[in-house]
Amino acid sequence: MKIVKGNEEHIDACLSIARELSQYFNEKGIAQMGRDLRKHMIYLAKDSNEIVGFAAVNRKSKNVAEISWMAIKLQCQRKGAGSALIDFVVNELRLRGIKLLEAKTLAENVEHPPYEITRNFYEKMGFFHLKTVLNPEWGPENPCAIYVKMLIQKIIKKGREVCMGNGDLYAM
Ligand SMILES: CC(C)(COP(=O)(O)OP(=O)(O)OC[C@H]1O[C@@H](n2cnc3c(N)ncnc32)[C@H](O)[C@@H]1OP(=O)(O)O)[C@@H](O)C(=O)NCCC(=O)NCCS
Repeated sequence: MKIVKGNEEHIDACLSIARELSQYFNEKGIAQMGRDLRKHMIYLAKDSNEIVGFAAVNRKSKNVAEISWMAIKLQCQRKGAGSALIDFVVNELRLRGIKLLEAKTLAENVEHPPYEITRNFYEKMGFFHLKTVLNPEWGPENPCAIYVKMLIQKIIKKGREVCMGNGDLYAM
């Protein structure tokens, strides 16, 4: 499994993966995904040169980025591609000074088992549920759970505050 950066040339391949996951993405969502992928950073998971998944990242401000879209081919799920994508993205974003990574998904008060997998996944990746909001684009029937992951942590080491990011420790 290899993670590489993608570009506009890979958008069709990403949309094809999403179209096969009809329990997650409807046509309206896929149309929005197509528009977003033109603007957001794209990362691809490749297995023997085949694109098996992708993540799109939107830099929202100096300190905050969002996983705007993510999908792994059904037959390639639960084999570590999603985790590898998140690990790669997290390293990249830390190097760019991003401190908080956000992801939105369907809230747990809607009974739809496929999105339980998504929430489990984000939690396993170190995200935590921040809050649930109503998103006008998703409609009132689809409450939106916002998950966040801190990319930088302050810890106290030998009485001094140090900052941990990108695997390094440095004094504040
Ligand atoms: C969510 C998704 C990206 C995860 O990708 P993946 O490659 O299957 O994930 P991984 O194999 O790296 O799994 C990492 C962890 O996530 C959790 N997880 C993944 N698939 C799971 C499943 N089917 N059931 C329960 N937990 C699951 C597990 O904790 C897993 O760790 P483990 O295998 O050590 O138990 C993938 O399932 C997917 O494409 N889902 C549909 C689209 C979607 O939800 N996109 C995100 C929102 S836009």
